[in-house]
Amino acid sequence: MADTLTITDNRTGTSYELPIQDGTIRAMDLRKIKTGADDFGLMTYDPAFMNTANCRSAITYIDGDNGILLYRGYPIEQLAEQSDYLETAYLLLFGELPTAAQRQAWVRDITVHTMLHENVKTFIQGFQYDAHPMGIFLSTVGALSTFNRDAKQIFEKRSRLLQMNRLIAKVPTIAAYAYRHNIGRPYNQPDNDLSFTGNFLNMLFKMTELKYQPNPVLSRALDVLFILHADHEQNCSTAVMRSIGSSQVDPYSAMAGAAAALYGPLHGGANEAVVRMLAEIGSVSKVPEFIKKVKSGEGHSRLMGFGHRVYKSYDPRAKVIKKIADLVFSVTGKNPLLEIALELERIALEDDYFVSRKLYPNVDFYSGIIYQAMGFPTEMFPVMFAIPRTTGWLAQWEEMLVDQEQKIARPRQIYTGQQTRDYVPQEARG
Ligand code: CMC
Repeated sequence: MADTLTITDNRTGTSYELPIQDGTIRAMDLRKIKTGADDFGLMTYDPAFMNTANCRSAITYIDGDNGILLYRGYPIEQLAEQSDYLETAYLLLFGELPTAAQRQAWVRDITVHTMLHENVKTFIQGFQYDAHPMGIFLSTVGALSTFNRDAKQIFEKRSRLLQMNRLIAKVPTIAAYAYRHNIGRPYNQPDNDLSFTGNFLNMLFKMTELKYQPNPVLSRALDVLFILHADHEQNCSTAVMRSIGSSQVDPYSAMAGAAAALYGPLHGGANEAVVRMLAEIGSVSKVPEFIKKVKSGEGHSRLMGFGHRVYKSYDPRAKVIKKIADLVFSVTGKNPLLEIALELERIALEDDYFVSRKLYPNVDFYSGIIYQAMGFPTEMFPVMFAIPRTTGWLAQWEEMLVDQEQKIARPRQIYTGQQTRDYVPQEARG
């Protein structure tokens, strides 16, 4: 059996044989299918990239039908159980789990970069007191390109690594400053004696105590949440990171764009939208009424935190999150929204509308409830997503840059506008 595809163009009667590799044909192979010498050649039309592979990637694998997620081959459940965020970041970036010595060096390389330039503080102080922290986050990430002029050297491996270390280390600091800015409290300096997540909690919640002691259950829960969010192959924001990065701009500027994509309610903003939705529903007894509204499409309402472009079964990340919710609630007390969420899930999983469309809870369905119980305001949720996704964005950016097949990303279009026409002077316009 030949790994080829035979296409007959019925406009001309000509047949073409195209190679099939890895279950794909190359879109550029279609260009030789022409009706004549002047014909541009056949293209594919694929709004929203529903069926187009844009790259080869060895980082993350998803089997959406069977609910499988692997980072560099390791199942997400095992990483969530046994790894921590920084180790997982190393795995995603370098392809293997670190040895003890590599891990020690890696943690040191990240930890030395946690501080922000004092001018970044001044920059953040310029935002309105009620500025959305994700707006502060993405602008500050972009602004970092002006502090790290060496970041333009994207074809130097050492420079790339340095920027990656800086970004992974500094995003929790930016996030914490955005939070402290919103609540009008002084920004806390990083404490490099603490773990990555312990220090993050310190920068968020430290008051007047000399040394902040992070709650070990909460810092472990954050580690797990960060592992779950670290990468998810070619999602919207990652596609943006690759696309902007393909113009050969510095990684801070590319990441500002990726963070902007994550901000949207259909992507990383969904956890915020879930909690708003649950609060709006208000009580378990109102759940059936809400489900009815979603099904009728009234007010364009969707069941936020449900559905996924790739998963057509239970999102494996949501399963892990559901488990750690109980752990977090044992420290913080139960979030009353949990009952509403559980009832929504129960009804939706029995309802033909959701079953027939294969709509299951995704990672965002429970993460917001946990973050809320931990004391984060709703607006911080997308920022909590962006901190670990920084690793995924950077791993994918690096992979794109060293991929010889990649070029500046530039889709085609089907032009539907006017043909050439002559300019009409204003007095002659109807
Ligand atoms: N509630 C109700 N109906 C839905 C939902 C939902 N959450 N999601 C999809 N549908 C319906 C949709 O109306 C359509 O029905 P029909 O065939 O009758 O028109 C069908 O299911 C297919 O939906 P789609 O919009 O074509 O699917 P998509 O792959 O374009 O969208 C999605 C994926 C995640 C944007 C969508 O499921 C959604 O809007 N979910 C809610 C937002 C959300 O939770 N986003 C977080 C995604 S996971 C984390 C992340 O990536 O950031």
